Amino acid sequence: MSNIRYKKNNLFVENISVKKLASQIVTPFYLYSEGNIVENYKSFLNNFKRSNPLICFSVKANSNIQILKILKKLGSGADVVSGGELLKAIKSGIKPSKIVFSGVGKTEDEIRLAIKKNILLINVESENEAILINKISGQLKKRTSIGVRLNPDINAPTHKKISTGKAEDKFGLSKTNLISFCLKMNKFDNLRLDAISVHIGSQILNENPFKKTLKVLDEIIKKTKIKFKFVDLGGGFGITYKKNDQKLNLKNYSKLVEKFKKKYNCNIIFEPGRAIIGNTALLVAKVQYLKKGSNKTFAILNAGMNDFMRTALYDAVHNILPVIKNSKKNNGPLEFVGPICETTCKFIKYKKYQKINQSDHVAIADVGAYGASLSSNYNTKPLIAEIIINKSKKRIIRKKQNLKNLINQ
Ligand code: LLP
Repeated sequence: MSNIRYKKNNLFVENISVKKLASQIVTPFYLYSEGNIVENYKSFLNNFKRSNPLICFSVKANSNIQILKILKKLGSGADVVSGGELLKAIKSGIKPSKIVFSGVGKTEDEIRLAIKKNILLINVESENEAILINKISGQLKKRTSIGVRLNPDINAPTHKKISTGKAEDKFGLSKTNLISFCLKMNKFDNLRLDAISVHIGSQILNENPFKKTLKVLDEIIKKTKIKFKFVDLGGGFGITYKKNDQKLNLKNYSKLVEKFKKKYNCNIIFEPGRAIIGNTALLVAKVQYLKKGSNKTFAILNAGMNDFMRTALYDAVHNILPVIKNSKKNNGPLEFVGPICETTCKFIKYKKYQKINQSDHVAIADVGAYGASLSSNYNTKPLIAEIIINKSKKRIIRKKQNLKNLINQ
């Protein structure tokens, strides 16, 4: 059960009332439930427990170091895509032997860092990248474990801007290129091809594309005749943001993964981000102004697209919850917007909403994944605070950025 819920008409995160927090802390702020993070991690692992996978949390979904520390304690590894994420993951206590490094454009410095830190795998996305990793490994007198990322040419039904597994996408190697890459491995003296990896997109709510991907992997592994020590199945597991969203059921997929693992006697890796952190947070904001439009009312929040980008970027639907529920209705449609000087700085429009007043607090729901991590200083606004609740205890895990530090450059 979620720890973010109403008690009578009051929104609570674990044992703390959001109203009370909003009277103590400057809004807007991100507010996490530690209990939800732990539950999500355990339930994800439980789903695949018969395959005994290594879970490498996708740090891009949420890179707060305190959150990484919580996940580390649960046994998580990390999927990183930059030198910064790599250093943060290590700083959080995650062992390099549980870190995989993905991304199409790793720089020389990032590659050198990853090699020096002896991470589990660098997931290679092109032959030219492998040439560079081989060269740097030689300079450092190391043999580096790599994975090769497959582009399986699978169209996973999700938002077109977060799909990664089609032939036209920049990620991974096509089937034919991957096979010819494997045949050339003997020219890379300083590399060891330990893994094959794949990631077909994000917010996928149907298990079929995952199953199809497994089939493609099966076909490719047979063709390469390579015994891969690891098969990295990526992330992409969707969550329900909208009432009518289908709930992802991974039962059958999980059975197929188990069979696959047995067949190839390999270790399975997953790189979930959203499934672990998505539904663990609210963005608490204040209604700065109410403004009458010609056919709707605008509730102008003090949080904007700089704090939370998903709606502006992907037209993502995130519900907005009143912090105190009432039974009165608002007159006519109500649109929640932010203060940033862009038309896309808006969140959601309701035909009917409860009566809302200026200075009321509301909470944007399910913002744990790609919320804080995608936020920016656009319009020279400071990054907002992040708070986490564990039962009745609150901890500030990021202080609101100091405006003084922002205005000097
Ligand atoms: N592994 C790789 C190689 C990835 O590129 C990603 C996400 C993940 C794992 C984690 O995917 P997840 O389990 O979170 O779906 N900003 C967008 C999502 C971009 C995802 C990028 N890659 C959003 O807010 O929806």
